[in-house]
Amino acid sequence: MLQTSVSNHISHLYNQQVRKLGIGLLYNPSLDLYLEAHPDACDYIEIIPDMFWTDLGTGHPSRFREIPSWIKVLDQFAAQYPLTSHNISYSLGSAGIFDRVYLRQMQEWHQRYHFAWHSDHLSFVKVHDNQQHEHNAGLAVPVPYDYEVLDMIGGRINAIKRCIDVPFLVENNVYFIDLPDQELSEPDFLNELSNETSCGMLLDIHNVYTNAVNHGFSAKEFISQLELDKVIEIHIAGGNEMGGMYTDSHAGPCPPAVWELLGYTLPLVPNLCGITFEFHESYFHLLQFDGITKELEKARAAWNLYHT
Ligand SMILES: [Fe+2]
Repeated sequence: MLQTSVSNHISHLYNQQVRKLGIGLLYNPSLDLYLEAHPDACDYIEIIPDMFWTDLGTGHPSRFREIPSWIKVLDQFAAQYPLTSHNISYSLGSAGIFDRVYLRQMQEWHQRYHFAWHSDHLSFVKVHDNQQHEHNAGLAVPVPYDYEVLDMIGGRINAIKRCIDVPFLVENNVYFIDLPDQELSEPDFLNELSNETSCGMLLDIHNVYTNAVNHGFSAKEFISQLELDKVIEIHIAGGNEMGGMYTDSHAGPCPPAVWELLGYTLPLVPNLCGITFEFHESYFHLLQFDGITKELEKARAAWNLYHT
């Protein structure tokens, strides 16, 4: 009985054990009061570590200046919930830039906050100008899906895994233009990356839906092409239309199509450990407390059908 219960709560990603956590929220400051009033609404908190410090730039002797008021909130969460880390600055796809100082900073934060897993996007944010000065693009720029990029990103994931001994997940991306002459499809790229590095996948269902709307393909077909036993986490979110495109703006509640895709996916992902609801604080007014609770309850009802 005990053995069954333990195996029900542990998933194996190659040699790493991952705990099934349940339903999570991506932290934003509008959640402080919500979580105070509804501490049991979620099972874990996902944080973007970069929000908790000011990065003073490459070469600065004490580069990551922590923001005390934010750290206070984070320490409270750490005492109350399991935490996962959703990074935005590994910048896996940057040509010629891999930030080992950032990696060391994250190594320290893993020792401090014991994240159950960590992740970043299949994209890049750091770029060089023609003087070799480093800049931040301010948004996740998609990478071309070819073998040269696959090898480069694979090498970086292996470097991350050598330093930080918890599962590392890569999140599928949003793109608004089709890059010509790519050697691989996005699912094939993710499958190969996962097989080469034993990284897991963070399947953002709203990102798949966004690309499917903008580029006219079947979201279910995309999902079915992934090696779904590699999916450890799912993101769900909402979006809105801008300039004739549908965007991944995290604008409030999930659209019905995302709930339908979640229901389609959940029976196919045996190693899933968490479903995280993401919204941006600027859209809090579209949700308010009741709206957040409603999204989390719907996610939990879906999770309970296949993953308790
Ligand atoms: Fe996401």
